[in-house]
Amino acid sequence: MQTEIVTKDQTKFVLQPNLKDYEALYKNFDWKNVHNEIEWFDNGELNAAYNAVDRHAKNHNKNKVALIYEAANGKIDKYTYLDLKHMTNKFANVLKKLGIVKGERVFLFLPRIPAVYASFLGTLKVGAIASTLFSAFGEEALLDRLGNSKAKAVVTTPDLKQRIDKIKDKLPDLTYIILVNNEPIQKIEGQSAMPITIDYNEEMKEASKEFEIEKTHPEDHAFLLYTSGSTGKSKGVVHAHMAVLQQHYTHKLIHDIHPEDIYWCTADHGWVTGISYGILGPLSNGATVLLYEGRFDPEGWYSALERHEVTLWYTAPTAIRMLMKAGEEITKKYNLSHLRHIYSVGEPLNPEGIRWGLKVFNLPFHDTWWQTETGSMLISNYPCMPIKLGSMGKPFPGIVAAVVDDTGQELPTNTEGHLAIKPGWPSMLRTLWGDEERYKKLFNNGWYITGDRARKDEDGYFWYIGRADDVIKTSGERVGPFEVESVLVEHPAIAEAGVIGKPDELRGEIIKAFVALRAGYTPNPELEEDIKKFVKQHLAAHAYPREIAFVDKLPKTRSGKIMRRLLRARELGLPEGDISTLED
Ligand code: PRX
Repeated sequence: MQTEIVTKDQTKFVLQPNLKDYEALYKNFDWKNVHNEIEWFDNGELNAAYNAVDRHAKNHNKNKVALIYEAANGKIDKYTYLDLKHMTNKFANVLKKLGIVKGERVFLFLPRIPAVYASFLGTLKVGAIASTLFSAFGEEALLDRLGNSKAKAVVTTPDLKQRIDKIKDKLPDLTYIILVNNEPIQKIEGQSAMPITIDYNEEMKEASKEFEIEKTHPEDHAFLLYTSGSTGKSKGVVHAHMAVLQQHYTHKLIHDIHPEDIYWCTADHGWVTGISYGILGPLSNGATVLLYEGRFDPEGWYSALERHEVTLWYTAPTAIRMLMKAGEEITKKYNLSHLRHIYSVGEPLNPEGIRWGLKVFNLPFHDTWWQTETGSMLISNYPCMPIKLGSMGKPFPGIVAAVVDDTGQELPTNTEGHLAIKPGWPSMLRTLWGDEERYKKLFNNGWYITGDRARKDEDGYFWYIGRADDVIKTSGERVGPFEVESVLVEHPAIAEAGVIGKPDELRGEIIKAFVALRAGYTPNPELEEDIKKFVKQHLAAHAYPREIAFVDKLPKTRSGKIMRRLLRARELGLPEGDISTLED
């Protein structure tokens, strides 16, 4: 079970796995017994950023590289834990100077650059709530999220700021735009218009590198991530500082992090994986993390794996399928022998992906299942446990998972139903921002209902079946059909729209829109392109419909709700099911 690392200077490390016996640990597990895996302040206070940075900056890890940043132009910078401590302290001081206090929301709308680490963790240090926005978001998506949370500040770049500028008048609470720029920004004399633009680099230069961290309570809100459901606008999933305990411990046991490892999580910080396993989990373990700014590109990724001697690699099925498509030959150009374990998350991992991993890396991809709402990995294939190809694995110690029916009753083995989790795990969402009612609806008969359908087999392995709702997963990114439909009907040509996820070999699903045009418009290729462009600009570059079907009218219930289920069944040639509520 042990694995080896051989470094550039030929030093050899033989590593024993952090988790040797899954069943034994699961049987007797209690979260209380692992509380001192992380560091608490006196009086039981806890701050996730202190755990990620400061506790390493005061011990033997002080001069250890925390972050290897490879910029899009290939430039490489390294930051030690002490550097990170100073950067995050400086950012905390910048916020303090602006008068931002505990509980206020600070958003990051940034590409994958070190300022993400400084601002996310610096925000946590003042006790404010950090949130992130995927850099592909357009105006409507930004307005929903910044407006709903009443954001006080946004950290962004000049390029991305242009999208904020278009909506800032509709955001009365947005007071500061903190601009990360290579060039000093022009001082605007007597600047009075809101929001006020602050020069990140200038302020960081001037700020003190000492900061007294806010002694937050484990239940204090730390970060807020917007995600999509099947109905309504995006919802703000609220996580507490306590989440860091589970992010730390799952990263240690599932990803099997060791001091000698170089770890790369390919997810963007705009999504939960980039936060929980790009920032908090690995840093809390004192790991060395690769931050790769470039876009996906097979040769670029392989050369990054080789150049940085990555040993642990956490990625997603769409990327794996794209690498498979690029072929086996190019993998031979690179030395990928440093890899020790490889992992996948976000969408179903097909057995072919695992087989391919075995063929080209001599390693299986370990699937992990979790959600924005769960904050950490809950079901996984552990390095010490046999993999059943196509299964998500088994629940993490301390997690009780089950398959339940519509009334929340547990179903027998090998029966399809709702995947459900017993509430109370440390990184569970604490509420939905400003919508306690919607939060309560996530639970049924004492279970948290995940929205996924699954079955559990006779050995306790869980098998993913699909979503129970209309949420779309395209290239692993979660998209709410309602959000896409809302933007579509804003297009001047569109009277009504229904959106579904259509299975796709490469992307898992693509977004398909059915649109009925207003009188006077006729379908044509230019209009189709214009609609796609409209959604990219207004909602997000990743959330546009790759396919559009023009229809005369959409199937609706008598109360006027678009029947996406029926659109999907018709598209896929599946039985139409109960259509008794259909309009006519
Ligand atoms: O449907 C499941 C799918 O992704 C959803 C959660 O999406 P999100 O909140 O964006 O978080 C993704 C990264 C943690 C789940 O409800 N999903 C996640 N992991 C898997 C998966 N589907 C199948 N297999 C997985 N391993």
